[in-house]
Amino acid sequence: MRHLASVTVLSIMLLCELKFSSTKHVEDGYYDFIIVGAGSAGCVLARRLTEIHHWDVLLVEAGGEQPQWDLIPAYLTFASDPAGGIDWNYKTVPSPNYCGGVSCPYPRGKCLGGPSSTNYMFYSRGSKSDYDELRRLGSKGWGYDEVLKYLIKSERNGDPRLASTKYHGSDGPLPVEKFSYQDENILAIIQALKEFGLPEIEINGNQHLGAAVTQMTTHNGERQSTYTAFLEPVRGRNNLHIKTHSHVANILVRNNNEAYGIEYIRHNDTRRAFARKEIILSAGSIGTPHIHQLSGIGHKEVLEPLGINLIQELPVGYNLCDHVKASVGYRIKQTTQLPNITQLYTNFLDYVAHRKGPLAAPGTIQVVGFLPLENSFHPEESHVELAFVPSVSNGLIPASYYDGIVVTPTVLKPHSTGYVKINSTDPLVPPLILPNFLHNESDVLIMLRAVNSSLELLKMPALRNLGFEADTSVIPGCEQHNWGSEEYWRCVIRITAKTVFHPVSTCKMGSRSDPTTVVDSELRVHNVTNLRVTDASIMPITISGLNTLAIMIGEKGADIIKEEWRYYLNSSTFRT
Ligand SMILES: *[C@@H]1O[C@H](CO)[C@@H](O)[C@H](O)[C@H]1NC(C)=O
Ligand SMILES: *[C@@H]1O[C@H](CO)[C@@H](O)[C@H](O)[C@H]1NC(C)=O
Ligand SMILES: *[C@@H]1O[C@H](CO)[C@@H](O)[C@H](O)[C@H]1NC(C)=O
Ligand SMILES: *[C@@H]1O[C@H](CO)[C@@H](O)[C@H](O)[C@H]1NC(C)=O
Ligand SMILES: *[C@@H]1O[C@H](CO)[C@@H](O)[C@H](O)[C@H]1NC(C)=O
Ligand SMILES: *[C@@H]1O[C@H](CO)[C@@H](O)[C@H](O)[C@H]1NC(C)=O
Ligand SMILES: *[C@@H]1O[C@H](CO)[C@@H](O)[C@H](O)[C@H]1NC(C)=O
Repeated sequence: MRHLASVTVLSIMLLCELKFSSTKHVEDGYYDFIIVGAGSAGCVLARRLTEIHHWDVLLVEAGGEQPQWDLIPAYLTFASDPAGGIDWNYKTVPSPNYCGGVSCPYPRGKCLGGPSSTNYMFYSRGSKSDYDELRRLGSKGWGYDEVLKYLIKSERNGDPRLASTKYHGSDGPLPVEKFSYQDENILAIIQALKEFGLPEIEINGNQHLGAAVTQMTTHNGERQSTYTAFLEPVRGRNNLHIKTHSHVANILVRNNNEAYGIEYIRHNDTRRAFARKEIILSAGSIGTPHIHQLSGIGHKEVLEPLGINLIQELPVGYNLCDHVKASVGYRIKQTTQLPNITQLYTNFLDYVAHRKGPLAAPGTIQVVGFLPLENSFHPEESHVELAFVPSVSNGLIPASYYDGIVVTPTVLKPHSTGYVKINSTDPLVPPLILPNFLHNESDVLIMLRAVNSSLELLKMPALRNLGFEADTSVIPGCEQHNWGSEEYWRCVIRITAKTVFHPVSTCKMGSRSDPTTVVDSELRVHNVTNLRVTDASIMPITISGLNTLAIMIGEKGADIIKEEWRYYLNSSTFRT
């Protein structure tokens, strides 16, 4: 209790310390573009579209401002927890295959910045082969060479050595750098991964398998969401209109094929806004399909039972694909439990004065290992990621103070897919989310091997010397199995399997002739004019590092839109 109280005091003090910004109020009416969702992609898109001075852009966000405490990296514990108040509080449909058979949280950030305000801050792009796979699957213009320029365009890499390579940028809006603070455990883990045989790599260069202390979307010890990096600096543009606490209820469509506005709920009132050019959904892999379905764009079998008038039949909400993790506990000797109030105050002053010290980093969440799994059925698809999440036995405290580590082996190319399905015509009722994790036995086999690697890692001298060992306390629900047996780990995997927060593919991109797709390679919704999707829901496959990916989609989407409307302006065929 005392610890929690000190943290609260800390938050209040920081609130006073950091600057505050105010909301801009505008009336409803006509805009050139309406962007739904100020998340990882929406903020980027809003910045880029308002570069055209005569384009009026409305950005609608269901959440509020990004709170100031959220900038503190160690506070991601609160940011990613419902207690932080900036989460949608989605829950999964229960399944015996994961999360112990019960409904589990499915976090998605809800404030300016969206998930970029609540994520682990990794700056990770996925590998070249991921994007080439995309192009192979029919997404014209989305190969690695074609998206790299957009990744670079966003980036302001703080490492001059990297910034000068062909993979990185140094003058974009998004600061990228390593945390200034690494404790002893972090150095030991990176060393152990090397002893395990992984090369130390730069994960965003030409190598993808290996170990790294990753670069993060932070600057001088503060989180950089897409709001702080892309939007806040241009918030004064008078063609940018931001509406927070505005929950979009549906898209207005006429003649079953032409989008012309939105309806949204703000302070219990339903309001309307109209678009002279386009409505662009950037509400993410849950919100975007939900809004489509509310508007009558979706599968007949989903919409009909709810009495929703079908406007266009498209496989909206299907193909939900997400990274899945299990949990393996490490016991550690070198704990950094929340210190006494004197020590805490010292750390706090260090942070306020210099943006340094333990609060400037979320503990072990900065080391990753990308491992190949040899002799598996699909070697090229069975790479796994090991991440190291600090854990505490006594409640919710900043991530820099921990007394255990949970290793989360993650299947990066899962074979199981699920759905997002509307369950009520009330737009405020969340949709059903069934990620279907571990439905396919090959995903379980990959996970078993990844768990094995997590345990093998403990045999490395760097971890042994520091007193790391496996946490052998039996996971509740798996008491019937011997700790360490295959049956035991199969049980643990089913109980601990959860989202790694990377849902994609619910409005899949691809050729019009492919019946599993919702948008084309220019991100236009099939058969509905003036309606586009610009967020991670378009991605046909999972790629590691969803925030980075969504930012790239925002950049590329903005260019696609600019190109199209310049053409229409020049050719004088105005679409009004
Ligand atoms: C909305 O309506 C509910 C119930 O009628 C009320 O409790 C709440 O205060 C209202 N919210 C706003 C923002 O006006
Ligand atoms: C607080 O912790 C520091 C460092 O561990 C120690 O030196 C100091 O004596 C402690 N102070 C109190 C009041 O317990
Ligand atoms: C979905 O809707 C049905 C019918 O209204 C309801 O019984 C059920 O509880 C809802 N499911 C969830 C997960 O909210
Ligand atoms: C599991 O995935 C593999 C590889 O993609 C596929 O061949 C197999 O049909 C899937 N099995 C099921 C039950 O979906
Ligand atoms: C990992 O798998 C190998 C090969 O099956 C086995 O020899 C080893 O004991 C396993 N390690 C652990 C920690 O379970
Ligand atoms: C688009 O509409 C046309 C005619 O209304 C129809 O034949 C076609 O199947 C539709 N395409 C898609 C992808 O729904
Ligand atoms: C349209 O006009 C702009 C400004 O004059 C020009 O930069 C752009 O290249 C033109 N686009 C096309 C497709 O002609």
